Amino acid sequence: MLDLRVDADKCIRCGECAADCPYLCIALDGGTGDGLPAAVPGREIQCIDCGHCLAVCPTGALSVMGQDPARSRPLAGALPDPEALETLVMGRRSVRRYTAEPVAPEMLERLLRAVGHAPTGVNNRALQLTVVDGPQQVALLRGHCLEAIARAARNGSLPPRLEFFTGFVDLWERKGVDVLLRNAPHLLIATSPAAGPTPEVDCHIALATFDLLATGLGLGTLWNGLVHLALTVIAPELRPALGIPADHGPGYCMTFGHPAVRYARTVQRSAPRVHRAVLG
Ligand SMILES: Cc1cc2nc3c(=O)[nH]c(=O)nc-3n(C[C@H](O)[C@H](O)[C@H](O)COP(=O)(O)O)c2cc1C
Repeated sequence: MLDLRVDADKCIRCGECAADCPYLCIALDGGTGDGLPAAVPGREIQCIDCGHCLAVCPTGALSVMGQDPARSRPLAGALPDPEALETLVMGRRSVRRYTAEPVAPEMLERLLRAVGHAPTGVNNRALQLTVVDGPQQVALLRGHCLEAIARAARNGSLPPRLEFFTGFVDLWERKGVDVLLRNAPHLLIATSPAAGPTPEVDCHIALATFDLLATGLGLGTLWNGLVHLALTVIAPELRPALGIPADHGPGYCMTFGHPAVRYARTVQRSAPRVHRAVLG
């Protein structure tokens, strides 16, 4: 239900809140005769709590769902310089060498809270961000994954295209090389209820957001398709053990921590293939 409150002294009756509401839940002068924005009777139920009305109001006159506009961050003059942002995108690397030092809890909390701002289909926001937090927990997960891989190899139950996973057991046992988790001190797993509107893409967006924010804070990250496969195809029984709800879709994984490598420059990549569709 839409809980909309308007400060009549601050509201300039510009209509931006009504114009920007994606579900047409707000109208100026909703029958009150004062020209103020109000919920359209019968449409309040459509509100998806996106917060656009509060964000777009130029005078901070509007509160929605009990939120005080003064608690939002002002945007004017506060956005990053575009070139620096582009350098962040180009300079982000897959980090496969980490120090053992865990990420400070406050820094991780800050990152996870910011990820809560990533968009989700229909503003569903049903993601769970599961953190395997700290070297000891990651070591336990590594052990469980390697055991499951070795067991599946013995039983002949590894899918043919995943037979190369047995090499990871050998590398760990013989050389202490951790191809699965790269000795990172943390793993982030994003999952969302499979019945939601866009569960998989929501997870990918959340992790992509985390990836850039973490890189911006000097951390290293690695999209982790190998652990994803381990947890979804080879050892799905580890998912409940990690606290991933049974009704959640596969989601995706990202390893992170303090990098033990510094890249001096961006890589050089060819332009992506772009096709401009021309419809008749
Ligand atoms: C969806 C996805 C899954 C990936 N999984 C792994 C992985 O399991 N292990 C790994 O070492 N790298 C993994 N990578 C990293 C890619 O190999 C890497 O992004 C690519 O080589 C380009 O390097 P860059 O990220 O430094 O630009 C993955 C990347 C993506 C996007």
